[in-house]
Amino acid sequence: MSSSPSQPLLQEVLDAAKKLPPFPDVVWKVMPLIEKTAPLSQIESVIKYDPVITAKVLAFSQSPHFSRRHSISSLRDAIVFLGEQQLIQVIVTACSERYFAGQAPVGYDLREGELWEHAVGTALMTEIVGKRLGVQDLFTAFTAALLHDIGKTVLSHYVESYFDSIFTLIKKKKMRFLDAEREILGIDHQQLGILIGEHWQLPREVIVAIGHHHSPQQAETNRELVSLVYVSNRMVSALGIGCGVDGFLQPNQDEVFADLGIHSGMVDQCLADLVEAIKETRSFLTS
Ligand SMILES: [Fe+2]
Ligand SMILES: [Fe+2]
Repeated sequence: MSSSPSQPLLQEVLDAAKKLPPFPDVVWKVMPLIEKTAPLSQIESVIKYDPVITAKVLAFSQSPHFSRRHSISSLRDAIVFLGEQQLIQVIVTACSERYFAGQAPVGYDLREGELWEHAVGTALMTEIVGKRLGVQDLFTAFTAALLHDIGKTVLSHYVESYFDSIFTLIKKKKMRFLDAEREILGIDHQQLGILIGEHWQLPREVIVAIGHHHSPQQAETNRELVSLVYVSNRMVSALGIGCGVDGFLQPNQDEVFADLGIHSGMVDQCLADLVEAIKETRSFLTS
């Protein structure tokens, strides 16, 4: 069996990625308004311009994770009560869901909605770990984590079609799933994630984190951010949330965990916190 990927196949994958609808720019419009403490009415008018995002912001805001002390029934309530950090998180979550929801990434042996659960779980985990480590820019980490496996949403169909070839490499050559993907399809879901991020004109650091979430040591910049997404992905996968056939049992300890100062006791605490956070975000996962 030849394992070299065909050029037409690679081109087909790249074309499919380019056909993804543009990433809504509402989040990048709201950020500068928040930074310059613009009046609420200005922020509200940017969000309400997009009715789908408005509906999602309201739905997600009603999750106990975000609205512990308040009942939120209007967009204005959401803006007032969520606070800047959480409002931005809710908006970027609302913007991202459309790419994950409604499809079952069958190639990765995931049921419908499971890749979205994995995305939200990983984003919540970056927040949990990032707070413990005192990471300043939690929004960038949250966004990168939410989108880290975006390449899978496109590649899944091809992984399914070429599953036997990929699995043979994993079994016979003991390859990682990621490396087998690249060998057979000509591109892996990390590399495809970079192309999608560039196509969407996401911030550079988000693209770097998406593109190195399985190989943080190879990142030439933003090492802390990339490592944070890597450990969060690993811990969420270890809980069995959306790892599917790509999941491989690895201990939640290696040099990346150690470099960040994450010891095994902290891993246990973060996993317990995540289980709690996920319980509170059921509306994310089912909406
Ligand atoms: Fe991945
Ligand atoms: Fe992942």
